[in-house]
Formats: sequence, C-alpha cells, structure tokens
Amino acid sequence: MKRGKLVVLTSGKGGTGKTVSSINIAAALHALGKNVVLVDANLTTPNVSLHLGAPVVPTTLNHVLRGNKRVNQAVYEHHSGLKVVPASISVDALRKVRPEKFRGAVKKLKNIADLVIVDSSAGLGKEALMAIQHADELLVVTNPEIPAVTDALKTIKLAEKLKKKIVGVVVTRRRGRKEMSVKNVAYMLEKPIIGVVPEDESVPESIMLRDILVNCKPRSKAARSYKRIASRMVGEKFLDKPGFFESLFSWMKR
Ligand SMILES: Nc1ncnc2c1ncn2[C@@H]1O[C@H](COP(=O)(O)OP(=O)(O)O)[C@@H](O)[C@H]1O
Ligand SMILES: [Mg+2]
Repeated sequence: MKRGKLVVLTSGKGGTGKTVSSINIAAALHALGKNVVLVDANLTTPNVSLHLGAPVVPTTLNHVLRGNKRVNQAVYEHHSGLKVVPASISVDALRKVRPEKFRGAVKKLKNIADLVIVDSSAGLGKEALMAIQHADELLVVTNPEIPAVTDALKTIKLAEKLKKKIVGVVVTRRRGRKEMSVKNVAYMLEKPIIGVVPEDESVPESIMLRDILVNCKPRSKAARSYKRIASRMVGEKFLDKPGFFESLFSWMKR
C-alpha cells in the first residue's frame, strides 16, 4: 500500500502567505508529476476554495471531522488535475467538528497520494495543533519582518517539542532592502531557507482571477519561486527554461 508524506504549512502570524504558498507548492508538485492532495485544514477561516474559485461542494473536511462522511468523499479534482479537500466556508459547519478525527482522515489520504499538502491556521491554538501534530514534515511560512519571524520562532519551538521535522522556511512577500535580510531570518530561526518568494502583484491578480498563480502566471517571479521550492522539496533540478519570446528578446538585445 502507498504511504505518502504529510507536509503541513504553518506560521505563527496570520496573513504571511500560507494559503498562497500551500496552493502553489501543491500545484507545482502536481505539475512535476507527483500525486498530490491539497487539504484545507484552516477550519475557522478556510480560504483554499475561495482562491481556487471552487464551487460550493456537498462534502468537506468538516463533514469528515464530524464523522458524517469518509475522507475520500471530500476529495475533488480542480480543473488543473490537482486533488483538493476543501473546508466548509459556512460558520455553522464548525459545530460538532472533532479535531481528533483528522488523524484517521489524513492517514487515508496518505494511502492515495505521494504528498499531502496541508494549509493550516496561524497561531498555536487547537486548530493549528490539529495539523502540526500529524505532520511528517513542516514548512514554516514567514515574512521578513520581526513580528512574523518572532511568531514563527514560537511555532518552531512548539514543533520541536512535538519532535516534528522542520524541512525549512519559506520567506514570502520579500520587498527589498528596508526589511530583515533573508540571512537574518535564517539566523533567528536556525532553520534552512527553502525558498524566497518576492512581493509580486501577480499573486493578488491570480486570486482575483480565481486561478492558481503557477498555472495562470507561470513566468511571474513568485510562480518561479514556488516552482523552485517544489523542485527542491522532491530533490529535482529546477529547470527554469525561458519562454520563446524571452529567448528571442534576450537574443535581440545582444
Ligand atoms: N508574494 C506575494 N506578493 C504579493 N502579495 C502576496 C504574496 N503572497 C501573499 N500575498 C497576499 O497576502 C495576503 C495573505 O496571503 P495568504 O496566503 O492568504 O496568507 P495566510 O494564509 O498566511 O493568512 C493575500 O491577500 C495575498 O494576496
Ligand atoms: Mg490562510
């Protein structure tokens, strides 16, 4: 039987880019030919389906955690082919959710996928813990700013207490020199930086389009960063081939 790996994207602070990162890393891994399931485990503020423009679906992770449905009934295929387990956007759907059921659900998902990528909630509360506890690996998402890095450090300490493997840090929304350097982020967190994603207006544009950045704006800087991270995660070389026009322009500029 297949045994996939559960990779949870976590952060201390909210709004650091976890959802954008989860979706794009999952989509980039899917494009590399990996069998991926993306899970929205951010039950109180679920965003994955909003980013994907997914229609309201009959079965969500909430049903599974209430014990009403099996997890395979909550797996949907995005038009890109990526498999997604959405959470319900209705506040009522939070009632009677039993976080202890998450373990069984993700165990089943690991039987059908090589990589289960989990978007979790911020902070160190029960909800964040639900995902962190069952992670095989953690990716910590932070912005290069003191409050975000300080909160990321708290998450790292908690994860270490739980003996979780932290594969690296994703630094997102990097704008430039007037903020913490990536080197300092690595120094403070004492973890390797697996990727740096620049501030890129293609990100909000892709959300407006309700599409996945790496699919709808594959040549944007942020998309390339996410593709590089995905390649690194699976130990493959990142082939950042320029497009036809880019090659032509650079040839003409010579
Ligand atoms: N690289 C980026 N460039 C510009 N905006 C970004 C980038 N990454 C994320 N954002 C924006 O930041 C906001 C928060 O991102 P999100 O992924 O929802 O954070 P989280 O899931 O950690 O709360 C979103 O509105 C998104 O458009
Ligand atoms: Mg989010």
